[in-house]
Formats: sequence, C-alpha cells, structure tokens
Amino acid sequence: MLYSYFLDWANLLARFSHIIVGIGWIGASFYFVALDFSLQKQEGDEDELLGSAWEVHGGGFYQTKKYLVAPAHLPSNLIWYKWEAYLTFLSGFVLLSLQYYVNASSYLLAPESSLRPLEGVCISVLALGGGWLAYSGLCASRLTRWPWLLGLSVVALLGLITTLLTPVFSGRAVLLHAGALMGTIMACNVFLVIIPNQRKIVGALLVGDVPDARLGAIGKQRSMHNTYFTLPVLALMLSPHYAVLSSYEWHGVVVLLILVLGASLRHLWISHEAGRAFADLRFAITSAVLALGTLMWLLMPDASLAPREKPVGVHQALKIVEQHCVTCHDTIPQHESFSSAPKGMVLKTEADLRRFRAEILRQVVYSEQMPLGNETGMTSAERMKLGAFLLAR
Ligand code: HEC
Repeated sequence: MLYSYFLDWANLLARFSHIIVGIGWIGASFYFVALDFSLQKQEGDEDELLGSAWEVHGGGFYQTKKYLVAPAHLPSNLIWYKWEAYLTFLSGFVLLSLQYYVNASSYLLAPESSLRPLEGVCISVLALGGGWLAYSGLCASRLTRWPWLLGLSVVALLGLITTLLTPVFSGRAVLLHAGALMGTIMACNVFLVIIPNQRKIVGALLVGDVPDARLGAIGKQRSMHNTYFTLPVLALMLSPHYAVLSSYEWHGVVVLLILVLGASLRHLWISHEAGRAFADLRFAITSAVLALGTLMWLLMPDASLAPREKPVGVHQALKIVEQHCVTCHDTIPQHESFSSAPKGMVLKTEADLRRFRAEILRQVVYSEQMPLGNETGMTSAERMKLGAFLLAR
C-alpha cells in the first residue's frame, strides 16, 4: 500500500519533469527553426551576417543575428542548447522504468507472453540501444549520398523493430517503445554527434583554423532527422492514452503511418514558413491525408466483434466485473501496484457500469486493453457477455 503510494508519487514527479524539459527541448528547437526563416539582411548588417531578426516578447525588444560561418571572435559565455535534450531523455527513461519496468507483467509484457519481467526489461533496453546503433550504422553508410533513401531506410528500420517487439510486448508498450526509440535517437544525435561536432568547430575557430565542413554537414543531417521525428514522437508518447491506436494488431504499420503523417506535417509546416505555397506542397499534403485516412480506416472497430450473445442479467455482469476488474478498480485496490482506483474508476455497482459503459465497451470488448495485461485471464466469451449486457442497457 505505502509502496504503491510512493511509486505513484515517483511516477507523477518523473512525468512532470519529463513534460517540462520536453517542452523546453521542443520549444527551443521549434523556436530556432522559426528564427531561421525570419532572418533577413537588414540595412547596416555586416557582410559576414546571414541576416538578423527583430522580435518583441514579454515587454522587451530583441535583435538576433546569425553569422554565415562564425564571428571573428567567439565570446566565452556562448549559450549551448543541450541540457533540455539530455534531461528529456533521462527523465523519460526514469518514467519508462517506473511505469513499464516496475509493473512489467501489467504494462510491458503481452498478456500471452511467457517471458519473465526481467527478460522483458532486457529486451526493452536492447531494443533502444540496438535501435540507436542500427540507425547510426545507416547514417554512416553510403546511403547518406541520397537523403531520401536514407530517410526511407530509417523509417523501415523503425517499422521492423516495432514489428519484432509486437509478439513480446503489450500493444501500448510496443507503440511507446517506437516513440522511446525515436526519442533515444534524437537525444543521442544531440549528445554523441551534434554537440561534439559543434565543439570541434568552435575549437578550430578559436585557434584560427578553418573547421572541417563535413562536421557541420553531419550535424545538420542529424538535426534534420530530429525535426522530422519530433511530431511522430509526441503522437506515440500520447498513444497509451488512446487505446484505439494499439487496437490494430500490426503495430509496425500504425507506427509507419504515424511517421509518415508526422513527417509530412513537419515538411508542410516548415516549407510553408520558408515561403513555399501550399500548391507546391501537394505531395506532402497528399501523404498526410492518405496516412491519416488509412490509419482511421485500419483502426475502425471490427463490427464482427459486436457481441451477438443474448444479454446476461445484471447479477452475472457484476460477477464478471467482480472477478476481472475489482482487484484494481476499487476504492482501495487489492492489487499491490495501485493505491487508488486507476483513472478514479471504481467498478462495483450497476450504476458504475452504466456510467462507464462506453469506456468499458471500448477497452474490454472492441479492444482487449483491459483487464490490464489480462492478468485475470478474462476469456472472449466473458468479454462478449459483458458487452451484450452493456449494449442492452
Ligand atoms: C491489473 C489491474 C487492472 C485490472 C484487473 C483492470 N484494470 Fe482497467 N485500468 C487499469 C489501469 C492501470 C488503468 C489506467 C490505464 C492508463 O494509465 O492509461 C485502467 C483503465 C481503465 C479504463 C479507462 C481507460 C481510459 O484510458 O480511459 C477502463 C474503461 C477500464 N480500465 C476498465 C476495466 C474493466 C472493465 C476491467 C475488467 C474487465 C478492468 N479495467 C480491469 C488497471 C486494471
């Protein structure tokens, strides 16, 4: 009881920190992309300037200048944007551990998986580490000569890893891992490539050398990948709140479609800011619409799952719920992982079932998200009976 109470607090604080630093990271990255597009050569700007921008915010005026390569003298108090990325990764990993590793049999493993929790945790860590190594291998290969082909290979790699995780992890854990892998790649890109390269460039400039142009080009490529990952990562991080997203059994396909949708939206947005008319961006618009349409079509509830059984009486419906839900969905749950009813949802009386009717149908009948990790071994016949009861209400 006290254990799950403090675990809840740890979870809450980790989630809170993760969201705060994540907003800082994405905010800074969006700000700099927008800034790049606002720069204009102004009257009186020195030759070595690419442009400058005037901005007003919070009661003050700012003038920001961007140099073509670097100014003749770099100040020692140069501001680096890196801690947001590192802390987002670290707090995300703490949150992953508290939510999915500590309660591995409920959250991480597929209900039908025979793996032990520790084995699941090892697979998760291997998928994140191995995924980063495979991605870096692709970026160091000859594919870099064709950025499009490299992009497609990265997308295929993510689809492949998601598909490999599908039989082992629960639906929500698979989608979350696809997002966590992209987040890991983004943070490692900053930590292991972009910042070290930038340091070498600054080091060369400080001693008056000409920096190696390749270092900048590699950093730019990784930074470009990061901007394409941002929107899909956000969608995948929110996916555990929307059971419908993990209801389709081919999670790899769902991840690919989310990637195409997010990357197309990113492309549209940035290209439009850069001055391209929507009419020239037909390809990105078509892929975003097609990806969203396909996703909505694939995730449509399967009409054949509609319960065809004769509705059972309230007594039997409550018995099913008593057996399969109340260990967790009670004011003070018996289940050791919870100190209060998950989502504040107590399921004990007929009134409770009526109140949460639509959610229960979605989570138990049309998708098999609940009981969590099917810990209580609920059968399809029981799902159909409960469904028929709820539909008859
Ligand atoms: C092992 C514990 C456990 C059992 C057993 C369980 N649940 Fe849940 N349930 C949870 C948790 C945890 C959540 C919150 C999930 C989250 O964080 O997204 C939840 C959430 C829900 C939600 C809300 C989902 C949402 O995102 O809005 C519904 C509906 C639900 N459960 C119904 C049921 C029903 C019906 C049963 C029995 C057939 C059941 N649950 C059995 C743990 C359990």
